[in-house]
Amino acid sequence: MRGKFITIEGTEGVGKTTNIEFIQSWLEQKKVGFVCTREPGGTPLAEQIRELLLTPREETVAGIAELLLMFAGRAQHLHHVIEPELTKGAWVLCDRFTDATYAYQGAGRNMGSDLITQLEMLVQNGLKPDLTLILDIPVALGLKRASERSKPDRFEQEQLEFFERVRQGYLSIAAGDPDRCVVIDASKPLNDVRTDICAALDAFWASSEASS
Ligand code: TMP
Repeated sequence: MRGKFITIEGTEGVGKTTNIEFIQSWLEQKKVGFVCTREPGGTPLAEQIRELLLTPREETVAGIAELLLMFAGRAQHLHHVIEPELTKGAWVLCDRFTDATYAYQGAGRNMGSDLITQLEMLVQNGLKPDLTLILDIPVALGLKRASERSKPDRFEQEQLEFFERVRQGYLSIAAGDPDRCVVIDASKPLNDVRTDICAALDAFWASSEASS
């Protein structure tokens, strides 16, 4: 049986890394075979594209160049990791996927969604995540957390308004696709966030069992 595709999304500093570890332990408890991967990245070539995208540089990066690099990495990742693993029956847990493109390039960079939808059709051939957890916190709080963690990358150097648009982008994706997306209030204490993530995963598990 084909595996399930779970993605985790959110603006900077929402706590994806620590919550991904929690989701991994949930999958282990369920005795599900899975791989954990990320975007941009996930294969050696796609990780090089990630470096290109995240490194701060003097040269401004044209929105369309940024968008095409995201999808180039995604095509490689789908071909070498996501599709083969799902076909084998493994679950794929991915730190960001195409919702990030709608949120960051579409809303953040004001590129809109039409071109992204065309590229999504070209590259993904109908593949969408089965479950997407969107960790949501006020932008200023997330940026503060992110700045305490490491030097800002090219995206983290953006202004507050950019991330406000990204956050609204995510919330409108969730509103438009409530069967797939669950918004988690990540400003709560970590234990409460985990309880909410666990509830979303349990509900997804129950509905997957019922439909198999
Ligand atoms: P992160 O995975 O460490 O959060 O960093 C990846 C950065 O790349 C993050 O700032 C969001 C950005 N990004 C996009 O702009 N578009 C995309 O499609 C993806 C996957 C990530």
